[in-house]
Amino acid sequence: MLPGDGVGVEVTPQAVRALEAVGKRTGLSFGFSEAPIGGTAYETLGHSLPAATVDLCRGSDAVLFGAVGSPALDALPREKRGGLLDLRQLMGLSVNLRPAVAWEPLHGASPLRPELLHGVDILFVRELASGLYFGPGGHEVRDGVEVAWDTMLYTVPQVEHVVRAAFVLARARRRRLTSIDKANVLRSSKLWRSVVERVAREFKDVAVEHLIVDNASLQLIRMPRRFDVVVSENTFGDILSDELGALSGSLGMLPSASLAATGPGLFEPVHGSAPDIAGKDVANPLGSILSAAMLLEHGLGLAEPARRIEAAVATVLAAGWRTADVREAGGTVVGTRRMGELVAEAIAAG
Ligand code: NAI
Ligand code: MG
Repeated sequence: MLPGDGVGVEVTPQAVRALEAVGKRTGLSFGFSEAPIGGTAYETLGHSLPAATVDLCRGSDAVLFGAVGSPALDALPREKRGGLLDLRQLMGLSVNLRPAVAWEPLHGASPLRPELLHGVDILFVRELASGLYFGPGGHEVRDGVEVAWDTMLYTVPQVEHVVRAAFVLARARRRRLTSIDKANVLRSSKLWRSVVERVAREFKDVAVEHLIVDNASLQLIRMPRRFDVVVSENTFGDILSDELGALSGSLGMLPSASLAATGPGLFEPVHGSAPDIAGKDVANPLGSILSAAMLLEHGLGLAEPARRIEAAVATVLAAGWRTADVREAGGTVVGTRRMGELVAEAIAAG
């Protein structure tokens, strides 16, 4: 457990509570250890990612992460900021899963019309360890002109790894895979597309389509129901998966999983430390609780217990309980802890 900073400290215990409730119900028992990361670690220990934290993560079966971010940390240059980006690299986390589900009771909280949202259940698979954010780059003055550049560099094994993971996930779902690229312009996208086509031959039961990224940004909002599993490189995935937040009603609802080729995965809500609402018991813990469900399914291979957590979340939402971020007329607004308690109760009763 790495609760981290801000609301991370408030939502993570609610995810632990859900895991304990599901353990009681199914006879599983979990051992938890906690370690510091982020702004609080920086202020108290002088390092945002202490070596002992990395060791603990590597020695665990899965990592449940909260959020990091504080003014002191954000003010540091990137190479000193450390924390989550370094941890992702050290753990080799290269496949990022971001589900976007339009929960029926929250349709009113989405800016999209309810008829577009009905039945929407997308699993976005984003490459996390390469591309533009990690390729060669620089910032210098050339012949008196200031220039800066980044490089979208991919190797075939990197593409193949994430694409294969997406195919496997599609096979276990509705067997449709959409690959997003910019193959009409970018060389790295042409390479990406050729790998998708080659791997597709091993997954003949999965229907594959290619979408150009600009069109994809429109189609994901215009007809979200037509998508099942979506796979893309790092930057495109960063941008498009945030767009999908609009389907779920609130950033606080979104879970994620980051998986490595070998070793433990890291499971965290998509949101950050939310300093504007931290410490007030108002943050939505469902993104963290749903991340615990992903931890069970993708981290520990326990799909049935994961379904119990998701069903409990659906039950609590259907009963009208809401945190402030998804409040609506007629709903009952509760705090972080109470929402966690309601989910744990629904798991116990489920
Ligand atoms: P943020 O995700 O923390 O907050 C964005 C907005 O969403 C805020 O209005 C916040 O109140 C709201 N929000 C976030 N989580 C919520 C929840 N559980 N329930 C209800 N409302 C919620 O992003 P922001 O404000 O850009 O960044 C704040 C800090 O978090 C920064 O220091 C940033 O670097 C860090 N950050 C960390 C991430 C991580 O740990 N994975 C991801 C994104 C940002
Ligand atoms: Mg982002």
